[in-house]
Amino acid sequence: MMTNQKWWGDYEGVGFPNLVASQQFDKEHLLTLFQLSKVLKRNVPKGTRQDWLKGCTCLNLFSEPSTRTRGSNEMSEGRLGAAKISFDNDQFSSAVKGESKTDAGLAWHAMEVDIIVMRHKDENAALDVARCLSHEENPPAVINGGDGKGQHPTQALLDLFTIFERFEKIDNLTIAMVGDLLRGRTVRSLAYMLSKFTGVKIIFVSSRFSKMGQDVKDYLNEHGVIWSETENLVEAARQSDVVYMTRPQLERERNLIKRWLMRRANRNLTMTKIIAEQMPMSSIIMHPFPRNEEIETDVDSNERAWYFWQMRNGVYIRMAIMLIIGNPTKAKELLAQAG
Ligand code: CP
Repeated sequence: MMTNQKWWGDYEGVGFPNLVASQQFDKEHLLTLFQLSKVLKRNVPKGTRQDWLKGCTCLNLFSEPSTRTRGSNEMSEGRLGAAKISFDNDQFSSAVKGESKTDAGLAWHAMEVDIIVMRHKDENAALDVARCLSHEENPPAVINGGDGKGQHPTQALLDLFTIFERFEKIDNLTIAMVGDLLRGRTVRSLAYMLSKFTGVKIIFVSSRFSKMGQDVKDYLNEHGVIWSETENLVEAARQSDVVYMTRPQLERERNLIKRWLMRRANRNLTMTKIIAEQMPMSSIIMHPFPRNEEIETDVDSNERAWYFWQMRNGVYIRMAIMLIIGNPTKAKELLAQAG
């Protein structure tokens, strides 16, 4: 595995080929990744398979439930010819016997896996495992597939790729993030990544029980991103290029009263057909999914509904990440061919 090419940077002392946080990416990294994803979308579509990752073993280690992240990683690994192993870490692995996540990482390194995609309930889980493995010789790359309330950087990559496909730019767009911004990791990762572009405006739309954390707001201030906060979805939707909906993350709130308040407040943060029709014609509605009730299903037929397209893009962005890590020579060759 070649590690001297800087396809993305470092975070808290952990860097390429590990992918643990959105802050690792700058604008140039992102545009290169989008270009490669576009090439792969054209060159390795449904029904085709390449052997560019032949000899590479990918482990999908998921200790929280997942449909899209795990599924699209498995799709990507299969389509690029990698061998893949998938584990429900907390059900059928030695995690039930008390094995720590870092010991699990060391065990998989000993068994010679090349890439570990991990989802874990603990914030910074992927960062901790990557840091532990960094002391080993030729360690596997660790990719964060979601770490508790922390981050979900590959989701943010596919989200931004989708926005880039729609508008052919990210600069100067207005993005409304709606719903549970306090507990949702996708919006945190997306906000960090949006800060790498110029002229971006973010409108946080949430109830007072689910506001975006101060750490993200401070980061946006440091990076000169204009942001505002409101509880009014209609007003925000009318002035946004992208309305990014999220569900109430009830499983991350133990306090029953707060859960009840969150659920009640969220009724005012529901995307309906009537609201969708008031949005600019060129705008799009996104959602990382799964959805609960925050987007009514009759919005799905509105041309602004881009969430299923967004999901499909997860396969291609993850193919690009896997290829860069597992076969960077091929990634460079494809980029050079595309000009
Ligand atoms: N968007 C997302 O992370 O979905 P899953 O939880 O199904 O992986």
